[in-house]
Amino acid sequence: MPPILKRRKILAFAAAGLALPGLIRHAAARLLTATPRQTEGPFYPVAIPADADNDLVAVAGQEAQARGIVTLVGGRVLDIEGRPVAGATVEIWQCDADGHYLHPGDPGPRDQAFQGFGRDRTGVDGLYRFRTIRPVPYTGRTPHIHFAVLPPGRPRLVTQMFVAGEPGNARDFLYRALDADARRAVTVALTPARGEPQGTLAGNFDIVVPA
Ligand SMILES: [Fe+2]
Repeated sequence: MPPILKRRKILAFAAAGLALPGLIRHAAARLLTATPRQTEGPFYPVAIPADADNDLVAVAGQEAQARGIVTLVGGRVLDIEGRPVAGATVEIWQCDADGHYLHPGDPGPRDQAFQGFGRDRTGVDGLYRFRTIRPVPYTGRTPHIHFAVLPPGRPRLVTQMFVAGEPGNARDFLYRALDADARRAVTVALTPARGEPQGTLAGNFDIVVPA
């Protein structure tokens, strides 16, 4: 059950008087589990690019569009009680369609039309969104997108998003290190995006930040 539905259900029970106060407190304490922290890896940009907006497929000054399958990734930043976190900076970074990062440690050659890194900021609804490419595998890794979330007044949360159904997930050393619940929390189904050009994918990745 999606966390928000779980919360609604618990609240419904509470409103109906079906839970004793002690049980309500107990349920509230375990409503949502924070998204598992994962390694930042070696490819967080050394220098933030001039164009660091939430559209990684288009780079200012570049006529070409990034190679790869355009993919809309968005979701909400929530606290463990399921409340939207406003004003959180969400950063993503990932390799281009050939597996190269925007980082001096990656010899490239890089797709210059792929931004490699982007930022968004959540509104009052906790929503963030990115236009990027479907992540691709590179040596030793299954497809993934790196995320860093900076909620106001809370610690930075670094994690990775994986793609549901990827055969490489089962062989990925970082994915394998996650237990079943953690895998569920960071595995996102990418499906055809409605109202977008054919071939565009979309996925929802809600991120729960610890208190
Ligand atoms: Fe990576």
